Amino acid sequence: MNPFVLANWKMNGSKNDIERYCDELTAYFHRLEPHVTCVVFPPFPYIALSNQKLQHQFLFSGAQDCAASAKGAFTGDVAASMIRDCGGKYVIIGHSERRQYHHAENTMLADKLKQATKAGLTPVFCFGESLEEYNQGQQMQTCAKQLEAVFKHPHLQDTPLKRVILAYEPVWAIGSGLTPNPIDVQNLLEGLNDQVLENYTQIEEFSFVYGGSVNEANFQGFISQPLIKGALVGGASLKTETFIPLIEIANQ
Ligand code: PGA
Repeated sequence: MNPFVLANWKMNGSKNDIERYCDELTAYFHRLEPHVTCVVFPPFPYIALSNQKLQHQFLFSGAQDCAASAKGAFTGDVAASMIRDCGGKYVIIGHSERRQYHHAENTMLADKLKQATKAGLTPVFCFGESLEEYNQGQQMQTCAKQLEAVFKHPHLQDTPLKRVILAYEPVWAIGSGLTPNPIDVQNLLEGLNDQVLENYTQIEEFSFVYGGSVNEANFQGFISQPLIKGALVGGASLKTETFIPLIEIANQ
């Protein structure tokens, strides 16, 4: 798989912003000889627009979440199949902001992964420890537990997952300007990599990305670790001036 540079716009942007941003990314990708996959995750109403505007084989749109059910009386939810229908190819599942503010718990996350896979979307599954867990040196236990709770969930047992991106996002690093040591992240991912290979055999292909305060100054340190195949970027993804340098680094 190519390295991934993923733009999580969260609840930001407007039609004009998205249009301009996607046009600039498209022009940039046509100048570059890319071997990077870039996905833009705008708020739901803009997915069709970003899909229409991103015109390069390595540029995709995605959604920041999807519903745990296929369809029906779930006011305010958006089904994975609808995201696909609007041209989305990826979906973020289990972001810490969804876990915190929308009570996304393990059964729901397993169901979302199932729906995403059924609809043909590639899930970007987020996991990571809190500050308290980090201070207690509990990164490995916490992350291993979060993966196990979902990928060993009975609702996912007979669902082959063709391709999954596993985004390690320490909650304390998101939007804080703080980051873990990339070598510590590599060590953590080595343990988790073994766990995924041994225990979650329904995942056919996966790669890890890092997320949490990624910027031009710190990204090189992360992407040069063998198991870190890209980044999930919030703040620095909102403007092409701060996002394109990250693509440049991943493309080297
Ligand atoms: P940040 O957000 O880059 O602003 O820390 C990352 C994320 O929440 O995915």
